[in-house]
Amino acid sequence: MISATAPGKVILLGEHAVVYGRPAIAVPVWQAVATAEVAASGAGCTLVARDLGQQWRLAEAGDDQPLALVARLALTALGLPPDPDWTITLHSTIPIASGLGSGAALSTALVRAIFARAGRDAPPAQVSAIVYESERIYHGTPSGIDNTVIAYGAPIWFVKGQPPAPFRPPQPFTLVIAHTGIASPTKTTVAAVRAAWQAAPARYEARFDAVAALVTAARGAIQRGDWPLLGMLMDENQALLEQLDVSSPVLERLIDVARGAGALGAKLSGGGRGGNLIALVQTAAAETVAAALRAGGAATVLVTTVA
Ligand code: PMV
Repeated sequence: MISATAPGKVILLGEHAVVYGRPAIAVPVWQAVATAEVAASGAGCTLVARDLGQQWRLAEAGDDQPLALVARLALTALGLPPDPDWTITLHSTIPIASGLGSGAALSTALVRAIFARAGRDAPPAQVSAIVYESERIYHGTPSGIDNTVIAYGAPIWFVKGQPPAPFRPPQPFTLVIAHTGIASPTKTTVAAVRAAWQAAPARYEARFDAVAALVTAARGAIQRGDWPLLGMLMDENQALLEQLDVSSPVLERLIDVARGAGALGAKLSGGGRGGNLIALVQTAAAETVAAALRAGGAATVLVTTVA
């Protein structure tokens, strides 16, 4: 049996503006992972999504099925037959539609497992490019940040259309990730920002530039281990996301809870209007902030170290 894994992810700063060519920073979340296992079978290739209670015969699934599409692209890239005698079982501890990149993580684990089964290395750039094709089915016009951070498995500095720059922070830092309990409709929020940008391009370009400036400042803050500054920049990013109209009362209430419990900064993460918020905390304050968020009604709370 061959198996492969991939982490979840959160966007630290720069979501939405990243769709318009501005930089963003994303980090992997190893507390939630997707796994793919390949076993021999006698009857063609079957993909089994255990958590969804669904399965597909690869030979019958269309290219609008994201997992079937990436399996097919991986097999083609490896020069393997299109319907090998394998059962590939997929499992994930990453909540679906939560902004943690569950779809990209499942696709990444799947591609890696197929490469491993073929006895081949799976270079992150190649895995990322294959997984991007499935992101297009989930999200319409994705920037590519999710597949990139998950395939590289490291914090990344990301600008659409440029090679990503993975980096290691000189000192680790701690994030509390809390889910609002409300699904984040990324496709809808991305389309809403696009419509607003088309209606008032100058105003939105200025907001995207402001996001770019603080993402750039955040890179310096991470390099210097200046966590108070990074927290402040996250707060400023949240204010700009509110101006882009992708926040929500529930997100803002929980962001206030995190700040009130001692977070250095907090903001929504990902598409917004639901999904996750992230809070930067001193490691010693992580449990206090996490408990406050749980008490405040967050559906799930996860603490992760970015290293
Ligand atoms: O909702 P998520 O975590 O997949 O993030 C979406 C990020 C956006 O910047 C809003 C869209 C994109 O494609 O980058």
